[in-house]
Amino acid sequence: MLNGEKLISRPLRWGMVGGGRTGQVGYKHRTGALRDGTYQLVCGAFDLDAARGRDFGVSLGLEAGRCYADYKELIAKETAREDGVEAVTIATPNFSHYEITKACLDAGLHVICEKPLFFTVAECEEIEKLAEKEGLIVGVTYGYTGHPLVHQMAAMVAKGTLGEIRIVDLQYTHGFNASDDAGAPEAVKWRTNPLTAGPTFVLGDIGTHLYYLSEIVLPHLKVEKLLCDRKAFIPSRAPLEDHATVLMHYDNGARGRLWVSSVNAGNMGSQRCRFVGSKASVEWSDSHPDQLLYDVQGEPNRILHHGMPYLEEEGLAIDRMGALHTEGLGDSWSNIYLWIAQAIDAKKRGDEAFLKGHHYPGIKAGTEGVRWLENCVRSADAGSAWVEFK
Ligand SMILES: NC(=O)c1ccc[n+]([C@@H]2O[C@H](COP(=O)([O-])OP(=O)(O)OC[C@H]3O[C@@H](n4cnc5c(N)ncnc54)[C@H](O)[C@@H]3O)[C@@H](O)[C@H]2O)c1
Repeated sequence: MLNGEKLISRPLRWGMVGGGRTGQVGYKHRTGALRDGTYQLVCGAFDLDAARGRDFGVSLGLEAGRCYADYKELIAKETAREDGVEAVTIATPNFSHYEITKACLDAGLHVICEKPLFFTVAECEEIEKLAEKEGLIVGVTYGYTGHPLVHQMAAMVAKGTLGEIRIVDLQYTHGFNASDDAGAPEAVKWRTNPLTAGPTFVLGDIGTHLYYLSEIVLPHLKVEKLLCDRKAFIPSRAPLEDHATVLMHYDNGARGRLWVSSVNAGNMGSQRCRFVGSKASVEWSDSHPDQLLYDVQGEPNRILHHGMPYLEEEGLAIDRMGALHTEGLGDSWSNIYLWIAQAIDAKKRGDEAFLKGHHYPGIKAGTEGVRWLENCVRSADAGSAWVEFK
């Protein structure tokens, strides 16, 4: 069980680009990072509107002189200080991730970046090489995969509790974009424009979360081929999609299907996954993240509860609240940030042995998400044809 201990040598001096007063995801980052004392927020370039960004930073308790107009000023001024920032979170719209990540790495700063990481696999591979050369960490905030029961599912699969995996059923949908975009907020406008969102809308926005979750639960399986059907029900969003279905064939013969949509009218947002094996199945949803359905063929269905001693060590070790109290999204983000802090700390100490055995969503996880997107788009553009996964 985690108890707020720092678990690293000393708190990391941390800054944010994006995630300002109007940003949707900024608070999740601060909740995740600041909870365990592993990060100390020292600076930010929080907003495209420099004055609003400065005002916001000051309201968080930062010195006004360390609330910068943009990331370039942040990097220049912070790297000139002895007590300058060491790790920077990038919580800006997708199109700027690559440029800001590269600038941070070039300046010797560790990066924690939002998903989808970049637009292309080529960009991911270039950044991976740069990070390797500079001895720096790039973490990716797949914020749902810090839930203890996600790791319980992974442990059950690894131990063979479910038998051979046959079916992978993934869904992340909501209905918040069921109407057209007239008068839509900025956060919707940039998401539906290929210049700012990249080659996909919902596949990248929510599908990559599911894909990474499935990689955690099924690290031994690889997608061999896939078929993607995508559609913009609101025509102005084309060529990007607000709805998609992906069928996947895995290298052990398993079959997968994934449904992502932002036009599931009336749906308040639900992420659901079911992993079906030859003996039993597990099913988890972020609507009830404390509970895991465990269905053994021929036996009464069970609900496993977070924090209970009958769980595997992998699920118990990262529980924060204990079985009596609810565990939620903030706890999951705290775990993600803690794992990334441990990776940065180990990198600073040159402890490659620790890094080898340490789980955290890093550059490879970000790259695989972008690779999956490229394959989905290739299939969709070929008329929803089956394509070999490359
Ligand atoms: N991991 C998750 O669960 C999750 C959830 C939501 C969003 N996201 C990702 O987070 C990123 C941001 O999404 P959002 O929904 O918060 O967007 P948003 O439009 O709500 O907010 C973006 C914020 O970034 C600021 N900004 C934009 N460009 C900037 C720049 N160059 N420098 C400084 N600040 C800048 C804006 O002023 C705003 O505060 C996206 O990549 C998105 O995919 C991830």
